[in-house]
Amino acid sequence: MATAEGPPAEGLLRKKTSFGALRADEDEDGAGRETHSSADRDADPEISSLSNMSQFSTGLSVDSDADSAMGDLAAPMSTASITSSVYEFVEEYGRTFHRYKQGRYWMPNDPTEQDRLDLQHAVFLMLLKGKLGLAPIENPQSVLDIGTGTGIWAIEFAAQYPSADVLGTDLSPIQPDYVPGNCHFEVDDAEDDWIYSRPFDYIHLRLMFHTFKSHQKLIASAFEHLAPGGWMEWQDYYCQLQCVDDTMKGTALEKWVRMYIDGGQRLGRDMLAPRRYKAWMQEAGFVNVTEERLAIPGNAWPRGKDQKKLGLWQMTNFLDGLHAVSMTIFTKGLGLSPEEVELFLVDVRKDIKNLGIHFYFLTYFVYGQKPPLPHDGASEPPTAAT
Ligand SMILES: C[S@@+](CC[C@H](N)C(=O)[O-])C[C@H]1O[C@@H](n2cnc3c(N)ncnc32)[C@H](O)[C@@H]1O
Repeated sequence: MATAEGPPAEGLLRKKTSFGALRADEDEDGAGRETHSSADRDADPEISSLSNMSQFSTGLSVDSDADSAMGDLAAPMSTASITSSVYEFVEEYGRTFHRYKQGRYWMPNDPTEQDRLDLQHAVFLMLLKGKLGLAPIENPQSVLDIGTGTGIWAIEFAAQYPSADVLGTDLSPIQPDYVPGNCHFEVDDAEDDWIYSRPFDYIHLRLMFHTFKSHQKLIASAFEHLAPGGWMEWQDYYCQLQCVDDTMKGTALEKWVRMYIDGGQRLGRDMLAPRRYKAWMQEAGFVNVTEERLAIPGNAWPRGKDQKKLGLWQMTNFLDGLHAVSMTIFTKGLGLSPEEVELFLVDVRKDIKNLGIHFYFLTYFVYGQKPPLPHDGASEPPTAAT
């Protein structure tokens, strides 16, 4: 399984053009060009008022000599891993998908996808400088990882917290057999009613923005099944790709984003859900709800070796997942033929690899606490977990 090679150095990217605090409404048309692409506004009028965007600093600056600065960085390659073939899955577009609750989730579950998920895990670890989460948990004894995928987060969490019992659930039984004794997995649909008999101290969800019909229902289930003082944490992309300048305008990539959001919404998913996690959690009764946003460069365009590496990993992750996610959403959601999708993706891939397009994934980390019992005296959040 992939692991991060180490934390990126801080403040590496401020030497050249600094985009510092991204400015909204400074253009003549007041559209905040440096913050949002036009696709934002087309897809959802709410996005132009994305809260606090004017406060958001990507920490990324463009490397104007990007090609020559690649150094010894090499894109990680997808390799076919050996997984059990004992499970029967549904086949479509040459990929396999979960059979339990068939059709509920759009992405495949085959070895190629599993490798991508593990690479994505490494991207998140690098982004968080080795941390598995940002919620200030303290000595958690019972942990739930919803939509655990390959289980890599749950396994590493269990290893870091040997006294915690860690349960990972997913529609697909694609987790390994040999895991720490305090980690186990169950096939489950998180949108069903929860029947867990014990409360959790920490409920974690990563990269689930496009999976649920109702995130609010999910949040209500989590609230009910947390122990007083327990934490819930979301980690997710805001799938409206951002760009630090105008270089994404008019590209196939920009068009792809618009179609991806539109197609997903036609299939009944709020593709831009992460911007609402904080409000939804507050409405559900969570306290100490905190939203943090970080930027993952879309390829190796930024200055600085660590950011280039992060961008390169993310580019590989994006390219590896592009076909699968586009096929489902563009055919079933937008009515394109598989051939039309394939043709369109040729240009999208070129854009994803184009160091002249300075795009990034805005990534949300939102966590909140179920109110502690009065005698806990735990109204002050404890220090962050490592
Ligand atoms: C993008 S993957 C993320 C995997 C993992 N959280 C990670 O970060 O590596 C989404 C996972 O959610 C699972 N999933 C989707 N809908 C689900 C549901 N309703 N209940 C449980 N798991 C679900 C999928 O099977 C898939 O493994």
